[in-house]
Amino acid sequence: MKMADVNEEKNALLAQLSEEVVNCHSCPLSLTRNKVVFGEGNPYAPLVFVGEGPGQNEDATGRPFVGRAGALLDECMREHGITRNHVYICNVLKCRACIVENTRIRNRPPQLEELEACRDWLHRQLTIIKPLVIVCLGGPAANSLIHKDFKMLMERGKWFDSSPYCRYIAAALHPAYILRQHGEAFDKLRQSLIDDIGAARLKVIQAKREAPMELF
Ligand code: URA
Repeated sequence: MKMADVNEEKNALLAQLSEEVVNCHSCPLSLTRNKVVFGEGNPYAPLVFVGEGPGQNEDATGRPFVGRAGALLDECMREHGITRNHVYICNVLKCRACIVENTRIRNRPPQLEELEACRDWLHRQLTIIKPLVIVCLGGPAANSLIHKDFKMLMERGKWFDSSPYCRYIAAALHPAYILRQHGEAFDKLRQSLIDDIGAARLKVIQAKREAPMELF
């Protein structure tokens, strides 16, 4: 199959899948969401970022990483000349997980049943995209895609080559976590995200050298 045909097929399959996800009612998050956040970017990209799940801005717009965490991610990608056109970005959860606390709605970590309910969507999405490299942003993505006992402090930046979805996969700190730090700690962790994105860029180059593109 020619590359142009492969790309057209990917687009069609992703559009079809997105249609299904938008109508998903597999867990209670569908009752409180405003918009499903399927994912977006370049579906032919060799590099995919997988985050945790939509926050307030993403839930309002239906787009991934459009709030402060997204701005930090964009900034760190830009350090390597990478823009959203070069990558695909999605999340483990497609709907916002939140709780009401003193009349305020705030994000909360995803629960196991919610991750389970969403698992097949991510599986199908990544199977269609078939990137060379995946970077998990934060613990929930690393637990879902690398291994269930992933420990960010010990395993961040380590490359795994056993993923069914790509040639190489690693995890980086979630930009929202970095934003909660101050002063030197913030600078240090921001730099760690820049470094991890740089390492992912080099992994893409390595993977392209190692295997003919038609294998992906
Ligand atoms: N945090 C995530 O994990 N994903 C988003 O899309 C936004 C914030």
